[in-house]
Amino acid sequence: MVSHINKVAVIGLGTMGAGIVEVFAKAGHEVYAVDGSTELAERGKGFVTKSLDRAVAKGKLAEADRDATLARITFTAELADLADADLVVEAVPERMEIKHLIFTALDDIVRPDAVLASNTSSLLLTEIAAGTAHPERVVGMHFFNPAPVLALVEVIETVLADPQVVTAVRELALNLGKRPVVVGDRAGFVANALLIPYLARAIALYQTGKVSREDLDNAARVGIGLPMGPLTLSDLVGLDVVREVCEVMYDATKRPSDASPALLKQLVLAGRLGRKTGRGFYDYAADAGAGAADGTGEMTAAAAVVGQGELAGQLADLLAKAGVSVTSIDDPAADVTALAGSPLVILAGGPDAGCDACGGGECATADDDADATDCACCGDDAASTWFAQVAAVLDERSVVLTTDEESEFALTGTLSAQVTVLPLRVHLPTKGGQVAEFGIPLGAASQQLAMVRATLAGAGFVPVAGPARPGVVVDALLFQHLNDAVAMVDSGYATPQDIDTAMTAGCGYPAGLFAILDELGASAVADGLLEQAAIDPSIVPSPLLLEHAATGEPFLA
Ligand code: CAA
Repeated sequence: MVSHINKVAVIGLGTMGAGIVEVFAKAGHEVYAVDGSTELAERGKGFVTKSLDRAVAKGKLAEADRDATLARITFTAELADLADADLVVEAVPERMEIKHLIFTALDDIVRPDAVLASNTSSLLLTEIAAGTAHPERVVGMHFFNPAPVLALVEVIETVLADPQVVTAVRELALNLGKRPVVVGDRAGFVANALLIPYLARAIALYQTGKVSREDLDNAARVGIGLPMGPLTLSDLVGLDVVREVCEVMYDATKRPSDASPALLKQLVLAGRLGRKTGRGFYDYAADAGAGAADGTGEMTAAAAVVGQGELAGQLADLLAKAGVSVTSIDDPAADVTALAGSPLVILAGGPDAGCDACGGGECATADDDADATDCACCGDDAASTWFAQVAAVLDERSVVLTTDEESEFALTGTLSAQVTVLPLRVHLPTKGGQVAEFGIPLGAASQQLAMVRATLAGAGFVPVAGPARPGVVVDALLFQHLNDAVAMVDSGYATPQDIDTAMTAGCGYPAGLFAILDELGASAVADGLLEQAAIDPSIVPSPLLLEHAATGEPFLA
């Protein structure tokens, strides 16, 4: 094997190839940048130059360094020019027959000790390698978009690969300033096998019409804290690429949730491939960067917040600051008759302490964090009693928001049928703000929904509306994503540490999936998934997740 990798060739100068050229050239390598024709090579030169110019304009690169970087790159349409390359990275479209043509041609062009790598995100490396004269020198070198920004490089080893080649490519990635993770040859590798099903599920949810594209993106970006929402990210990756990886994943897993959603197929067939064609889920010509439309509703003038504890206090404060006249009821013994006719009533958590009978805080089932809703010592249900009193005075003039299952449960059968009840989930704040999401029940009037949205936005939340089903949008996306990561560990393919590296370094996640999971607690995630599974049998909590939920053992030491 070649002792030192200096001269590198990159074949295919689309978004990924051009980014990979930039990475190598910036790191000081001499680079052959190859595409199928002089025009395509020129187009690739345009991509690289534009990206370097942007770095200069932002003051991140000196003009002299840009010029030196460009001077290290030879743009060409001739594979024959690559005879002295130490490493070739192929980044052409994901069609096995094209890859085979290129790799077999390279067998006759490059030295026998040169390393051949593919940036494929969906094809099996073993199949590419097996079609070459020297399969032991073929590995995967999978970069993430935008390649100049994201640090992950998945180094894919096949059963045919020479371990020395794998080590050399890993070291090369380290020298490029990247974070390599060495993985076996499996559909989607680590990052895509987790990312793409998550994107597909989000697209499938969008396709139902039960959530707007902006709300869906805000649920992930603001609610979970990810760098981009799933529809914006799909547009960045390219809808054709998302679809290809979906199909490869589905072939491998046969899980319904991995299948390419119909809408994704239609957009690809229509040529709406995302940013690279100017249109995908969003139209980059007309509404680039458009945020969530907060609707045309008006905030409520008055609201009541019923409940003890932090959330009730936070909601009452924020509403009052937004100019809403707030009635706070934080004592289960208080008279609730004044709530009749209140346009918005928020049931925010039950009593902090136990019921009257047990003197508060003595309930066997109450813990420090939980409301005493199931008082074992007196057989009473403190929250139910309290909220049932509230329910008895409400009628169709009120919209009720409930922040937890307890209050939702307490209303069952106690409300007049005309009262609209929406589940409300207030998520922890992230860099992008704080999501308050509400579920839309069947039959809810659009003015009421618009009022709720406007009121939550007015109180400073990022509102997200989705189906009134377990998980609504944020936890529906997040918990299944976490479950997939646990299932991957359970299958023996990757460790929690490797998965966290892949998702932080490859997809810009602020924290790894297992860091998030440990923070939330396996039992909370398992409970949430079981609720989701009750209405969607395709959701199956991983046995390993259930074991961690049962033992309380964290995933990361
Ligand atoms: N080339 C070079 N630099 C770029 C760039 C590009 N195409 N796009 C953005 N940047 C740079 C910006 O110049 C900026 O740098 P500074 O902070 O030093 O000024 C930095 O990246 C951040 O960019 P922005 O401020 O414009 O925007 P942002 O903070 O929203 O970051 C992002 C943009 C880096 C794309 C970030 O949103 C992100 O990480 N998103 C997730 C992307 C992701 O998941 N990619 C993986 C997709 S899967 C894949 O690629 C594999 C596959 O096989 C399908």
